[in-house]
Amino acid sequence: MMSADQAQVATAAPAAEASSKSIPTTQKSWSVTGSGDPDKVLKFGDVPVPKQKKGEILVKVQAAALNPVGYKVLKLVPSFVARRSKAHEFDLAGVVVDANGTEFKEGDEIFGVIPVLSVFLNGYGALAQYTVLPAQRAVIRPKNVTPTQAAGFPIAGLTAYQSLFTLAKLEEGQSVFINGGSTAVGSFAIQLAKAVGARVAVSASGKNEQYVRNLGADEFFDYTKAPLHEQLIAADPNPKYHVFLEAVGTADPTLFVESEKYLAPGGVFLSVGPQGGGCLSFIWKVFLQPSWLGGTKRTWKLVSLDAKKNELEAFAKLVEEGKVKPLVDSVFSFEDTLKAYERIKTGRATGKVVVKVDPTAE
Ligand SMILES: NC(=O)c1ccc[n+]([C@@H]2O[C@H](COP(=O)([O-])OP(=O)(O)OC[C@H]3O[C@@H](n4cnc5c(N)ncnc54)[C@H](OP(=O)(O)O)[C@@H]3O)[C@@H](O)[C@H]2O)c1
Repeated sequence: MMSADQAQVATAAPAAEASSKSIPTTQKSWSVTGSGDPDKVLKFGDVPVPKQKKGEILVKVQAAALNPVGYKVLKLVPSFVARRSKAHEFDLAGVVVDANGTEFKEGDEIFGVIPVLSVFLNGYGALAQYTVLPAQRAVIRPKNVTPTQAAGFPIAGLTAYQSLFTLAKLEEGQSVFINGGSTAVGSFAIQLAKAVGARVAVSASGKNEQYVRNLGADEFFDYTKAPLHEQLIAADPNPKYHVFLEAVGTADPTLFVESEKYLAPGGVFLSVGPQGGGCLSFIWKVFLQPSWLGGTKRTWKLVSLDAKKNELEAFAKLVEEGKVKPLVDSVFSFEDTLKAYERIKTGRATGKVVVKVDPTAE
């Protein structure tokens, strides 16, 4: 693993100069060959450079960022879908090489996200020297961040943005609890909540206390010391939190079930998606159990990212204003993509795990 500062220069030859007249016909990419772990099913090789459809831009990729969904989905993808894959992954920063009549022009430096479904239907994701994405899923990269920093914004940053502002309507003066303040989603959420003047409490392990405090956390709970719901009940927050963002992805319903004790009446409990076992108990306790049978009198909402252009623009503006800072855990060369997957799969990253597709990119 390399730190962001030590990132090595990749040895993959750039496919060609980025101009509409010199776009090559083939390129290097990491494609999916079947269902399983990244080291078993991702293959580095030559694929055609894609052609855009209406509304899509062709981009020379500078950097791609990994997300947990990237390796989790590999275990679920049926082989007839995997066979369509020419390049995996979703988050990227790059240079527009064919604007295709959209609002962009050639040479624009952008960051954006290729929707998960498009990657599997069209075959082209972010781990390629060239890829296509809808113009509606890209925005101009603010000048105060580099491509390797900006590549990690879309999925984690927009998930945090949509959770707090689109779903929970968090406002100045309110308070939010973030379970998993050191996850990429949680770390962006801390900064976004502070940007609107909210008070922020987070959970993380003790080793990450300074990390989350540097991002703006006002209160800290070490989840390794005692069950978190017990710590929150003992803390008896006054006023209670207006919003609870569960940014880890736990399938244990306890934090929601106990939430009346620390989440204000009318407050919303947001989940990035319960993962793992305990499915039936979760469904009963969260969705089915009526309050007269002890069910929880709070609203539970699932966050399901749908990155909208206006939200990408609002997020980019906050970056430009210095209110949201990039979070880079580590940077890997294009050839070392499998090492990048090893890092994200530890579940211990603080910030984004980035692959530098273009070795010349900052
Ligand atoms: N619904 C959606 O649209 C959507 C979008 C994006 C992400 N997600 C989901 O959101 C979750 C977070 O994604 P991410 O990319 O932000 O993750 P990530 O950055 O890879 O998460 C790594 C961090 O998680 C922390 N962590 C692990 N277990 C924890 C626990 N029990 N309590 C508190 N912190 C814990 C680790 O800190 P320690 O080393 O201190 O444990 C580490 O800093 C994933 O489950 C992902 O699938 C959902």
